[in-house]
Amino acid sequence: MRKIIIDTDTGSDDAVAILMALREPTVEVVAVTTVCGNVNMEQATINAFRSIEAADTYVPPVYKGAYRPLMRDAVTAENVHGQDGMGDLGLPIPDMQAEKEHAVEALIRIVKENPGEIEIVAIGPVTNLALAMMKDPEAMKLVKHIYSMGSGGYGMGNVTSVAEFNVFVDAEAYKVMVDFPVPKTIIGYDICSLPGAFIEENEIDEMKNEGPVSQFAIDCNSTLIDYCKRVWGSRKLDLPDPYAMAAALWPETVLEEHECHCFVCTADDPAYGQVVVDYRKFDAVNKDKLEKRRPNANVIKLMDTALFKKKLRECLKTE
Ligand code: RIB
Ligand code: CA
Repeated sequence: MRKIIIDTDTGSDDAVAILMALREPTVEVVAVTTVCGNVNMEQATINAFRSIEAADTYVPPVYKGAYRPLMRDAVTAENVHGQDGMGDLGLPIPDMQAEKEHAVEALIRIVKENPGEIEIVAIGPVTNLALAMMKDPEAMKLVKHIYSMGSGGYGMGNVTSVAEFNVFVDAEAYKVMVDFPVPKTIIGYDICSLPGAFIEENEIDEMKNEGPVSQFAIDCNSTLIDYCKRVWGSRKLDLPDPYAMAAALWPETVLEEHECHCFVCTADDPAYGQVVVDYRKFDAVNKDKLEKRRPNANVIKLMDTALFKKKLRECLKTE
């Protein structure tokens, strides 16, 4: 059984990714760690509880993480996901408590207790991961794989023309994570805006009628759907975190990925938060002879959007 840790800033698209992982029978979510991002860390923790309860399967331990980025003031996105990050539906707060252990300590401990087995799906700013890597690098080298929703991938950013939100919030942390010597796969924002990638209006309406879990997945994204209408001109839904989760849970949805050297821009200038994805044909050069700019991440270039949607709806649908 695969063991995964979800590190999340639980906005509404994170919620769908959490539903997917908890309802996927081939993986065990051994922990959920929360971080500031879409909303503050306390709200992200409440939203993680709400998502866990809505998944209606089992309750993994939840650990509270960083209240703010490594160096910069927190940047949030209530305008995208709602004041509560979950569509402002007035959802009840589940009777759940976070563990007393800090998320950074929990990440290090769980990885040490399961050497070579833990896969981390990071769907928010990676402040917790960077802190863990800086605090106990030898332990964190035991991580099996990191899947990160972050960067514009091979495309543009969504906060600035070059910076995607999860990196823009904490580019210093992203640089630590990208340069850390463990296998990692980056799913950029470009993936969720590929042709056919959005959940279109007709699909939204169909999913609302596919049982309570699927209805929750749509309802909690009501603010994001409104935001998409303003930005893209029609009622539809972009799901960056679920695409990243799909790449981890369902590798058959990944059609093309490349070994890349990723450079994270952390200077205080208009490029802050850009991830320069250097996709050269490393197989055409001897990687071992490369002094600098060696591959440090696989970056996904194409996913099967139809298969993603099919598997997503099967995963969330209840009679
Ligand atoms: O840019 C998209 C990412 O930023 C997603 O993870 C979304 O939840 C926000 O955190
Ligand atoms: Ca997120």
